[in-house]
Amino acid sequence: MERILPLVVGNWKMNGHFADECRIRALLCSLEPLSLRADVIICPPATLIRSFSSLVKESGVAIGAQDCHTALSGPYTGDISSSMLVDAGAKAVILGHSERRIAHGETSHIVRKKAKIAHQAGLTAIICIGESEAERVRGEGARFVVDQLRASLPDMPDCCWSRLVIAYEPVWAIGTGDVPAPAELEEVHSMIREELQSLSLEYGRKTRILYGGSVRSSNVSALLSMKNVDGALVGGASLQVNELLGILSFYAS
Ligand code: 13P
Repeated sequence: MERILPLVVGNWKMNGHFADECRIRALLCSLEPLSLRADVIICPPATLIRSFSSLVKESGVAIGAQDCHTALSGPYTGDISSSMLVDAGAKAVILGHSERRIAHGETSHIVRKKAKIAHQAGLTAIICIGESEAERVRGEGARFVVDQLRASLPDMPDCCWSRLVIAYEPVWAIGTGDVPAPAELEEVHSMIREELQSLSLEYGRKTRILYGGSVRSSNVSALLSMKNVDGALVGGASLQVNELLGILSFYAS
């Protein structure tokens, strides 16, 4: 069977200014000698997409965004559309991150609409799903995640599957230092895989399923060695070039 090329995404969240171009330059320099068997996407704040995109041209790194609106244009003060992100140089967009679901009331229905318009604009949609601590304690985590996935996925014509990435990010693991036990992680990822394969056997088995939540260079090999874990969505550690390199080295040959 064709192997999935892993993907590591750095989510800078609301961190970074123009002067942080130096971090991208340093990352590119350090990556050059590594022959990495993985794709890399950095998602800075929207203000930095254009400048970072011109920096990474012809490198193996792409730039992504952290959100987009459900429409392509219109009277939506403060919002950014998927076509504007493409115009600025973005190749991907993170959608339905729990920080947006919780702080901005984003429902799975909204996430699904955003994913559809992201695909229309030609972006890769990185759809985030993950249970809260309360759901986990009730033993309902895995079921919750599968239901959330079903509700967040847009209709998937064949042409869009290669631009779909799922990121499993348990809310209780984000920024806490806690991570799921590897076997627990594999169980959720294999349920996500089954669900994707129930929609398309051919494409579901090739779709990248990332893990996110307190990924560090120190825990990366336990997490990323799992069969259905095809990479990571990295928050805090992606802001430190050395930490990010430590994570990426897992995929260096
Ligand atoms: P941390 O890696 O800081 O826990 O954040 C994870 C995350 O939310 C990435 O989207």
